[in-house]
Amino acid sequence: MKKIGILFGQENTFPQAFIDRVNAKAPADIRAEFVKIDDVEQHVAPDYAVIIDRISQDVPFYRAYLKNAALMGTAVINNPFWWSADEKFFNNALAVRLGVPVPKTLLLPSKERPSDTGENSFRNLNMMDWEKAFAHIGFPAYMKPHSGGGWKSVYKLHSPDDFFRAYAETGQLVMLLQESVDFTDYFRCYCIGGTEVLIMPYEPRNEPHLRYATEMKTTGEAGEKLLATMKEYVLKLNEGLGYDFNTVEFAVRDGIPLAIDFGNPAPDADINSVGEKNFEWVVEAAANMAIARAQAQKPGQDNLTWGTFVHPHRARSGAPTEFTMANAPTPTPKKPAAPKAAAAPKADGAPKKPAAKKPAPKKPE
Ligand SMILES: Nc1ncnc2c1ncn2[C@@H]1O[C@H](COP(=O)(O)OP(=O)(O)OP(=O)(O)O)[C@@H](O)[C@H]1O
Ligand SMILES: [Mg+2]
Repeated sequence: MKKIGILFGQENTFPQAFIDRVNAKAPADIRAEFVKIDDVEQHVAPDYAVIIDRISQDVPFYRAYLKNAALMGTAVINNPFWWSADEKFFNNALAVRLGVPVPKTLLLPSKERPSDTGENSFRNLNMMDWEKAFAHIGFPAYMKPHSGGGWKSVYKLHSPDDFFRAYAETGQLVMLLQESVDFTDYFRCYCIGGTEVLIMPYEPRNEPHLRYATEMKTTGEAGEKLLATMKEYVLKLNEGLGYDFNTVEFAVRDGIPLAIDFGNPAPDADINSVGEKNFEWVVEAAANMAIARAQAQKPGQDNLTWGTFVHPHRARSGAPTEFTMANAPTPTPKKPAAPKAAAAPKADGAPKKPAAKKPAPKKPE
């Protein structure tokens, strides 16, 4: 008997529907239930071949439980290691690498210093050139946390004054400054199992319960082409990121879909927001994926999905990457000692002002 579990929080419609669907269609040796957790001990396997995680982004205890479960062979959906590492700025950079269009985006140092850091913690950071940043991104612009969700601390800004007012509210959050896409169409796309894609017209300017109650505006051949392009981009992004259950958002400008938000590993799947038709699709696709993953799961092995960027065997397939004494670089002869003031700053008590008149240290060879 192989068990599929679902781990969830406040949502009320998807988990039960998912379990009912799996139990209605899975072979007799596969059963689904709500995950039950009591003692959690290191290197002890939970009783699940597959766990669908819908909540560990809000519960660090669950995230740690899932990593241990993954080590012991549970196919955790989505990969808790990748989910822990992922954030919007990296996602955007990866999209550029994969040839998927995204809005121009800059990463901003947090307005306030992180707790337990001081001025000296930031000696590597030059003063931000705001004029240059604004000229590059333009207005209106979006500012949003580099790692966030639920539209929390997402600002649409119309001027530098607007920006500085909003930035002052962001505290220790690391924010992105992003070009605003003036869109004619907007979509949210489920991607399940890296292969199944549902493209849903979405109107973010509607009230939350009416956001999926909209139609695609692009029609005819242009519409067909747009749908095919978005499907291709959704598959590319999810292959790169290695998500099994995710949504990708696109804003369409001049016929080009720009990916806006595509790391949503516990996407909204509530019947009251996505509507009956989309709900039916996601329940069916998730149940099929979970059953297939339970059948393929091998106890004690790595049953996670990894993106092409962090594929575990990738580093070993190319040039040697492991450091050994045999491949260590030959030491270069010592250069004459640098004058004292130009020496590397010590961890504490380093000079506050840079030694402006001293010659700049040579670049390392
Ligand atoms: N660059 C942009 N251009 C146009 N609209 C944007 C842009 N960035 C964000 N938005 C709007 O703001 C909304 C929220 O932004 P985003 O999806 O990035 O935040 P989020 O907190 O991750 O949201 P969610 O939790 O719903 O996924 C988007 O649905 C979109 O309507
Ligand atoms: Mg979003």
